[in-house]
Amino acid sequence: MNSRPSPFRPHVDAMTGYVPGEQPRDGEFIKLNTNENPYPPSPKVAEAISVALDGRLRRYPDPVGTAFRKAVAAHHGVDPAMILAGNGSDDLLTIITRAFVSPGDLIVYPTPSYILYRTLAELQAARFVEVPFADDWTLDPAKFALPDAKVAFLANPNSPSGTCLTPDVVATLAEAMPCPLVVDEAYGDYAETNCVGLVANHPNVIVTRTFSKGYGLAGLRIGYLIARPDVVAGLEKVKDSYNCDSLSLLGGEAAIVDQAYLMETRGKIVATRHRLTQAMRDLGYRVPDSSANFVWCEGSPPAKEVYEALKAKGVLVRLMRYPGREAGLRITVGTDREIDQLIASMGEVVG
Ligand SMILES: Cc1ncc(COP(=O)(O)O)c(C=O)c1O
Repeated sequence: MNSRPSPFRPHVDAMTGYVPGEQPRDGEFIKLNTNENPYPPSPKVAEAISVALDGRLRRYPDPVGTAFRKAVAAHHGVDPAMILAGNGSDDLLTIITRAFVSPGDLIVYPTPSYILYRTLAELQAARFVEVPFADDWTLDPAKFALPDAKVAFLANPNSPSGTCLTPDVVATLAEAMPCPLVVDEAYGDYAETNCVGLVANHPNVIVTRTFSKGYGLAGLRIGYLIARPDVVAGLEKVKDSYNCDSLSLLGGEAAIVDQAYLMETRGKIVATRHRLTQAMRDLGYRVPDSSANFVWCEGSPPAKEVYEALKAKGVLVRLMRYPGREAGLRITVGTDREIDQLIASMGEVVG
């Protein structure tokens, strides 16, 4: 028997840790559970990375990814000093939490939303308040803007609902917040609007973006945030010295320059999303209009049953449970063939 006390800090011992969606390594699944892009990344990405696979790998990467930053800044029409690169947007959310939140401080975010926000609070031994969305997926600023919050996270488009608050509404929230408001635009490439323009007039707005979804680069690990230069400079002190490797920086740069490719794949996904939304509604599910690459379905038969029946048929969707709410299914928009298969399987399960 081991009589030594746990070496972990008590709040780490107490937490469960973030559980990512299933990534089966064997079996042939139609994988519609982790919001990956069904289309490969721009061919320009492989080109850019392959030319750098030489002696340059001996060297550390540029710690602030100067060329990447410039390309991202040019795309958004902002100053490069407003960009911070991250090892995926999860890295940026971690940096933000470590920078602004001390143990015992308060983090606020809506529910149901991205489950990682809670994990970040727990890791920091912070308190958190989960503010429920209204039935129509809006948020009341009076409930959200808690006076002692140290940081607020807002996934917009939201996961799992796919719903998106307009920049005007987000501006109202930002004005009401006493602290930085992180607008997590992981799915921003699929939405009609975004909040990048708010950063100029709202010093507390930080927008995070990723290449994992719209650009089909979840395996590369690259993202960025847009914030005022003083905020970026402060966050730079908190990041790991070399938080992005040279290949990810090159891949991200090549991807953001190839907007024609993004528009082509995005267009296909948005069209398939409409079809999937309608099919799930026709089966009787409640499906809010999605601005992301997935749809959220609540209704019957119960989500757990459907999840298991689909899995048995080789189709993997995400079963999600949030306190005080019936479980739901979050279904990633795949290729047309994959969604045809999903719809056919759903017909068999529900029928
Ligand atoms: C709302 C939201 N934010 C951030 C992320 C993390 O993205 P990344 O792959 O850039 O770390 C995800 C991933 O699923 C997400 O759903």
